[in-house]
Amino acid sequence: MEIIRISDIRNYEGKEVEIRGWLYNRRSSGKIKFLIVRDGTSFVQATLIKNEMDEKIFDKADNINYESSIKISGVVKEEKRVPLGYEVLVKNIEVVSMAEDNYPISLKEHGVGYLMDYRHLWLRSPRQNAILRIRAEIIKSIRDFLDMNGFILMDTPILTPAACEGTTTLFETEYFDDKAYLAQSGQLYNEATAAAFGKVYCFGPTFRAEKSKTRRHLMEFWMVEPEASYVDFEECNEIEENLITYIVGKVLEKRTNELNLLERDISKLELIKTPFPRISYDEAIDILKSNGVKIEWGDDFGGEDETILSKKYDRPVFVHRYPVKCKAFYMKPDPKREEVVLGADLLAPEGYGEIIGGGQRIDDYELLERRLKEHKLPREKYEWYLDLRRYGSVPHSGFGLGIERTVAWVCGLSHIRETIPFPRMLNKIYP
Ligand code: 4AD
Ligand code: MG
Repeated sequence: MEIIRISDIRNYEGKEVEIRGWLYNRRSSGKIKFLIVRDGTSFVQATLIKNEMDEKIFDKADNINYESSIKISGVVKEEKRVPLGYEVLVKNIEVVSMAEDNYPISLKEHGVGYLMDYRHLWLRSPRQNAILRIRAEIIKSIRDFLDMNGFILMDTPILTPAACEGTTTLFETEYFDDKAYLAQSGQLYNEATAAAFGKVYCFGPTFRAEKSKTRRHLMEFWMVEPEASYVDFEECNEIEENLITYIVGKVLEKRTNELNLLERDISKLELIKTPFPRISYDEAIDILKSNGVKIEWGDDFGGEDETILSKKYDRPVFVHRYPVKCKAFYMKPDPKREEVVLGADLLAPEGYGEIIGGGQRIDDYELLERRLKEHKLPREKYEWYLDLRRYGSVPHSGFGLGIERTVAWVCGLSHIRETIPFPRMLNKIYP
């Protein structure tokens, strides 16, 4: 008898198999009982028929508490009425560990606050399983795309001496007799590795003490950050749109079941094709004003503004050339218009808003030096970064894609908190 994974069940029709998992749910109608067993790969109906099996085992099934770990064995049979298309006709059940009779998550509805307190158990539900499988698929597709396109993985440090994305969201920690900050981004280090390797990317957790509670912000989130030498702003945008199209294509190809379980409108994802529309910050301001938003040239966009803009398009939209003062110190000004930067945010459609921030970097030594002063950043901590402009500076660009926001959009979720196994949210670090 073979031990199988539920997701492979279609290969075992008529065969006797063993499945190792947990009891998710049960139904009973007299002489027939149904156990829903999950093993992490999927959920299967295990059918017990009184007259066709050992009566002791048939009776025992009623006494197994929800989420007990069990091994079931029996014969795989086609069954058109169940989602999987197959069921197991049970011969034997072995209880590995009987769960207590008070599993905190019942199959009726719970509030999200409650479920978040039991995140460690909530992860067992079909919906969370689908979301996190899609997350894994998205991450795999990103790595494949970058690896195939000549980007080299470069891991950047998490403990850093200085800020990348402004000093207001830094998590500070002790570093022996000094201070350190958890990385907000690996970008600055990747500008160094890009000068050593040409095209690179880092992919890791990043940290921001975001003091506001929104459906788009986590304190700890994962970001992939490609960086490339001799790549200008327009070329950078093209890499971004190709990457997004690739990701969505792979999820559509490989995770249809999960998208269906989430009731995602797949037709919306099928529209994601290059080229993506590009609008300037100036045009975006006009659009917002015509929607009644009180906003002036020079103001940064809030979440609501991004929602308005991103609802106007059926594909992700680039908003480019923001005012210098809205953006980070390293962004290169447009040589044709010094008051705006060669940077763009990519806003996901259906109101999701920014999923990527990126653009061309300052390659001029004097200008970078000036910007550090204007932003009141301690020069001695950035001396190494200035070196990159002293020794063989080149035009270079890069971007950061937020994994959780991308997962939220692809899955069609209203909040980012379900897109990572253990979200770190404002004032909440349990479990
Ligand atoms: O726009 P951001 O701040 O850009 C950077 O960090 C650049 N250094 C990236 C680069 O060019 N290498 O962040 C990039 C992306 C955002 O578009 C968003 O998707 C995500 O990171 N992000 C967050 N996701 C969840 N929670 C937060 N608090 C986030 N802050 C940024
Ligand atoms: Mg940004």
